[in-house]
Amino acid sequence: TKIAVLISGRGSNMQAIIQAAKSESYPAEIVVVVSNNPDAAGLEYAREAGIETEVVDHREFETREEFEQALDAVLKLYDTRIVCLAGFMRLLTPWFTERWRDLLLNIHPSLLPAFKGLHTHERALEAGVRIHGCTVHYVRPEMDDGPIIGQAAVPVLPDDTPDTLATRVVTAEHKLYRQCIALACSGKARVAGSRVRLQVREF
Ligand code: GRF
Repeated sequence: TKIAVLISGRGSNMQAIIQAAKSESYPAEIVVVVSNNPDAAGLEYAREAGIETEVVDHREFETREEFEQALDAVLKLYDTRIVCLAGFMRLLTPWFTERWRDLLLNIHPSLLPAFKGLHTHERALEAGVRIHGCTVHYVRPEMDDGPIIGQAAVPVLPDDTPDTLATRVVTAEHKLYRQCIALACSGKARVAGSRVRLQVREF
């Protein structure tokens, strides 16, 4: 399955997906990495890995819709079937999310529906939760909402700072995202109503 990975920054999740996709048996092929930020560090890594990269700089467009139309055109150009948001820091309008309904995945650094939005690790520490983690879900128009494909939990340790917790979570993200993309690309994570029906023995 031809997938596109959308980034805005470091791109460590993108790197993990690139590594996974090197395996012959992985059901996804990355046809393009797209960034809205021309300075995203992840772009360089993707180029060095021999993957096509494109920049669609949101600052060059008057409206969100025009930006998204340009993004959509790039995705179509590469014959993209599934789009994976990986640290992509632009909110998408319903026009885009409906166009890619059930074909658009996001990873969020919390156990949804807890801690939607930004600064999830600070907020998890403030709330005093003992378990934190990450979620991969199909995107719906509402932010950080949609049918959940998979989640990974990590412990919150007594001396954690937002940074130490973020490091533990992002390590879990790398593993979770490649598994969830594989499920989505092989048709084993189909949306049924507001949930995902998984077709796996163990997960
Ligand atoms: C990840 O924690 C992701 O879940 C969040 O932003 C971070 C991006 O990291 N939305 P990276 O760019 O994949 O390294």
